Amino acid sequence: MPIALRPLDATFGAEVTGLRVADLDDAGFAQIEAAFHEYALLVFPGQHLAPKQQVAFARRFGEIEHLYGDRGYVPITNQRKDGSLLDDAEPAMQIMRGNEGWHTDSSYMPLAAKASVLSAHKVPGHGGATEWADMRAAYAALDDATRDRIATLAAHHSIKRSQAKIGHTDPGGAGYGFDVGEPPLRPLVKRHPATGKPALYIGRHAYGIPGLDPEASERLLDELLAFACQPPRLVVHEWQPGDVAIWDNRCLLHRARPYDHAEPRVMVHTRIAGDPATEGARAG
Ligand code: OGA
Ligand code: MN
Repeated sequence: MPIALRPLDATFGAEVTGLRVADLDDAGFAQIEAAFHEYALLVFPGQHLAPKQQVAFARRFGEIEHLYGDRGYVPITNQRKDGSLLDDAEPAMQIMRGNEGWHTDSSYMPLAAKASVLSAHKVPGHGGATEWADMRAAYAALDDATRDRIATLAAHHSIKRSQAKIGHTDPGGAGYGFDVGEPPLRPLVKRHPATGKPALYIGRHAYGIPGLDPEASERLLDELLAFACQPPRLVVHEWQPGDVAIWDNRCLLHRARPYDHAEPRVMVHTRIAGDPATEGARAG
């Protein structure tokens, strides 16, 4: 069966069928990689990947980021191994609540992420979708004055700060499960290393634009985010167990949608590292 791409009803995103991700050969991968550059978000329904198969698929796109240890994947879930559910006050739940704000993965790390793979294993009856927003289309839709204004601006990115904003304080950083260094400084406009297309690079971790006072910086970042994350630049995916998605963190934002924490939601996440030449940042 040939690989079939169905573009989603938005400026980006495609559903991919007619393949088993776990058995992808080199020719199939070349097609998937080209689609990844064009659509930035690929959704593969019904794949039922084991975590190891997910890591192997992700590895074709580049080095795995080992933010959460060296297994290459991390469960994103409110359920413990023994089946019991986490309490909302626990740090892991606070991090997942943070995921409900628009963000791009690892922008607060010295090396930002290239892409992320997420798969659904258990889904709640209602809610718990994931939503993405196209920052290429958002940049293209800006007026000239705004484009000129942001052309040379950069923002710091900090998860400590974005978590503190939602009431999760963790002065030592231990509760994040990883070490966060100095907040990196990243330009507001990112040129995609593979396609050359410019995209807004913002999200909840961004703050403190050098040259603007803190209020003006926050106002600008809030305005850009509100403008950017609107139709037709949005895709929502309501997960079924077995679905897998990969997205390009260099040109999309994403967020988790809320759900009832009395029900289990089990997702598996794998993060692909950026290229130090294009996703690195200086501490600022
Ligand atoms: C992620 C993330 C959103 C979700 O995996 O990086 O933000 O819906 N997940 O769980
Ligand atoms: Mn994320």
